Amino acid sequence: MENIVITGGAGFIGSHLAGKLLENGNKVISVDNFELGKHENVQEYLDNPNFELVEMDVSKADEFSMLLQEKHVDRIYHLAANSDIQKSAIVPGVDFTNTFGTTYSVLEGMRRNGIKKLFFASTSAVYGDKSGVNLTEDIGGLSPISYYGGAKLASEAFISSYAYMNEMEVLIFRFPNVIGPNLTHGVIFDFIKKLNNNPKELEILGDGTQCKPYLYVIDLVDAIVEYSMKQGKGVEIFNIGVDTATTVKEIADMVCRKLGLYQVEYRYTGGNVGWKGDVPSFQYDLSKIYNTGWKPKHNSNESVQATLDSLNL
Ligand SMILES: NC(=O)c1ccc[n+]([C@@H]2O[C@H](COP(=O)([O-])OP(=O)(O)OC[C@H]3O[C@@H](n4cnc5c(N)ncnc54)[C@H](O)[C@@H]3O)[C@@H](O)[C@H]2O)c1
Repeated sequence: MENIVITGGAGFIGSHLAGKLLENGNKVISVDNFELGKHENVQEYLDNPNFELVEMDVSKADEFSMLLQEKHVDRIYHLAANSDIQKSAIVPGVDFTNTFGTTYSVLEGMRRNGIKKLFFASTSAVYGDKSGVNLTEDIGGLSPISYYGGAKLASEAFISSYAYMNEMEVLIFRFPNVIGPNLTHGVIFDFIKKLNNNPKELEILGDGTQCKPYLYVIDLVDAIVEYSMKQGKGVEIFNIGVDTATTVKEIADMVCRKLGLYQVEYRYTGGNVGWKGDVPSFQYDLSKIYNTGWKPKHNSNESVQATLDSLNL
């Protein structure tokens, strides 16, 4: 049993991770400022004596470091970040503080308290728009095109230096799009919201051909827990995902079917990207993680369908 902190622990992925770590007998402290996290995501754990919920802004390094000291923390899963990429396109400081600033606090808190074990939630956005390139973990010349991707790549760089200077054991997964129960943002969520407002017409950003791999959150969380327990000294980076992908138009069709709407008129905003900073498609090379024997249980379309089936529509 370990004392574990999850930053962003009341968010979509963090709350699933908390459930899995509790199931495995750990003590879990979920830290979240509730900017995007929700109390209802962690409601089911509140009666568990091994679970604690702390409302805190993780980017406040001194406060966060005190918490780590008080709780005798063994390991951190750092998931706190701004996940609303469109929001930070307007206010870049959100990513500086919530995506990069939280990483600095986590690393500094670990250094001050002698904590060695870290998992970091990174993203395909660190690669930037490299269409046609097979994205392996060791590819160079990364040029993120969103502030979010920039803050995540800066986080990876800081992690590398802190890990070397302080002999840390760090696992980094670069997530693709992750979906599943309790989803709070992203294209599925947007479509449902729009169709609830107007069931006759659906605005689709771009031309609908943007095509991305969708990974089911339960598959991801199982891998995070399994691989983080095996991590040794240094920093290990894995692309994680599925080798299939789903277009935005296919998602619109699946959402409409799920809502029982068969005569929806699609209105495309045009262009091949959803918004400035969006990467319309990318090709992950997953051989590194596949060679370890890992395989997701759901392909991309199954992840979309399972997510829709899990929602209370
Ligand atoms: N969902 C995806 O498709 C996806 C893809 C790639 C990477 N990721 C990464 O995975 C992690 C979890 O994402 P998610 O989808 O669960 O998003 P989420 O928004 O549901 O979770 C992030 C959580 O971090 C919290 N947070 C933000 N700033 C904070 C701060 N300063 N202090 C404390 N808490 C703070 C938010 O309130 C939220 O609960 C993030 O790091 C995200 O960048 C997610």
